[in-house]
Amino acid sequence: MKAELEDFNKGIEAFEISRAEEVELFRLKYLSKKGELNDLFEKFKLVPLNVKKEMGQLLNLIKQKAENKWQEAKAEFDIKTNEIKISEIDSSLPSELSYTGSRHPLKIIENEVIEIFNKLGFVYSEGPEIEDDWHNFSALNFPANHPARDMQDTFFINGDIALRTHTSSVQVRLMEKGKPPIRAIMPGRVYRNEAISARANCFFHQVEGIYIDKRVSFADLKQTLFYFINELFGKDVKIRFRPSYFPFTEPSAEMDISCLLCSGKGCNVCKHTGWLEILGCGMIDPNVLASNKIDAEEYSGFAFGMGIERIAMLKFDIKDLRTYFNNDIRFLSQFESL
Ligand code: PHE
Repeated sequence: MKAELEDFNKGIEAFEISRAEEVELFRLKYLSKKGELNDLFEKFKLVPLNVKKEMGQLLNLIKQKAENKWQEAKAEFDIKTNEIKISEIDSSLPSELSYTGSRHPLKIIENEVIEIFNKLGFVYSEGPEIEDDWHNFSALNFPANHPARDMQDTFFINGDIALRTHTSSVQVRLMEKGKPPIRAIMPGRVYRNEAISARANCFFHQVEGIYIDKRVSFADLKQTLFYFINELFGKDVKIRFRPSYFPFTEPSAEMDISCLLCSGKGCNVCKHTGWLEILGCGMIDPNVLASNKIDAEEYSGFAFGMGIERIAMLKFDIKDLRTYFNNDIRFLSQFESL
C-alpha cells in the first residue's frame, strides 16, 4: 500500500497542467469517482490493522495535496478563460434585441374602459370571485326560484357559496359599505356554467358600473353611456336602447351600437341588422336600494354591465373566444404595441 501511495504522490507531482483542458483531465485521472484516489480508498479498507493509522494519515495527506493542486489550477485557468472571453467581445456589434412582453387584449380593453369612466369620476372597485348567494343574487332582487340561480348557470361550491356570475355582486358590497353618492366601476372575472365554444366560455370578464345619488335619471345613464361609446369607438358610432329585463334594474335596457364594420348598412358581423349588442343597463330597482339600506325615496341610480371579450372581439376583429385563453404567442404578440 505504501508503494502505491508513493506512486500516486509522484504521479500528481509530475502531472503538468499547462492548458485549461488539463485541469479537467487531472480531475478525471485522480479525483473523480473512477479516479485513482478512489481506488486507493478501496484498497485502504483491506490494510492490516497495525499499519492502518499510518496509511490513513498518508492517504489523507496526498488526497489533500491532489485536491489543492486541482483547485489552484482551476482558479488560475478560470481567470485566464474569462480574460480571453472579455477580449473576444466586439463592443462595436449591435446588441441583441431584448424581448418585451405585451399586454393581453382583454387587459388593454379593460384599462381603456376604466380610464374613460375615470374621467367621469367613476372610481375603481373590486370584490371577491367566490361569493355568497346574498351578494350575487338575493340582494340584487333575484327571486328564490330565478333560473339564473339554477345549477346550469352557476358554479356552486357548497350551499350558499358560488363563483360569482356577474360583478354586480361588487355593487352590493359598495352599497352596503358606503353612503351615496356612489360612482364606481367594477371590472373582474365572472363564471357561468356554459359549454366552451367559439362564442361562449365558462368564465369571462365584465366591467360593471353604478351611479347612485339624488335625482339620477335615465337621461344621465344615456348620456354617460353615449360619452363612453364615443370615447371607445369614435364619434361616428350611434347608440340605441331596447327594453329588456334584469331583476336588479327597472326599467332595464340593452344597448346596441351601430355596426363598426358596415356603419349600420348591414353585414355578416351584425347579422344584417346594422346594430351590435354591447351592454345591459337600467335604473337600479328600488328593492335593491332598500335591501342595501339606501333610502329609495331620496336616492336613485343607474347600473350597467358589459363583457370585455365581446368589446375586444369587435375592436380587434377576433373571431373565436378561445383564442384569448390559449396563450398562443403568435396571437398575443400582435398586441405588443398597444
Ligand atoms: N349583471 C348583468 C349581466 O351580467 C349586466 C347588467 C349590469 C345589467 C347592470 C344591468 C345593469 O348580464
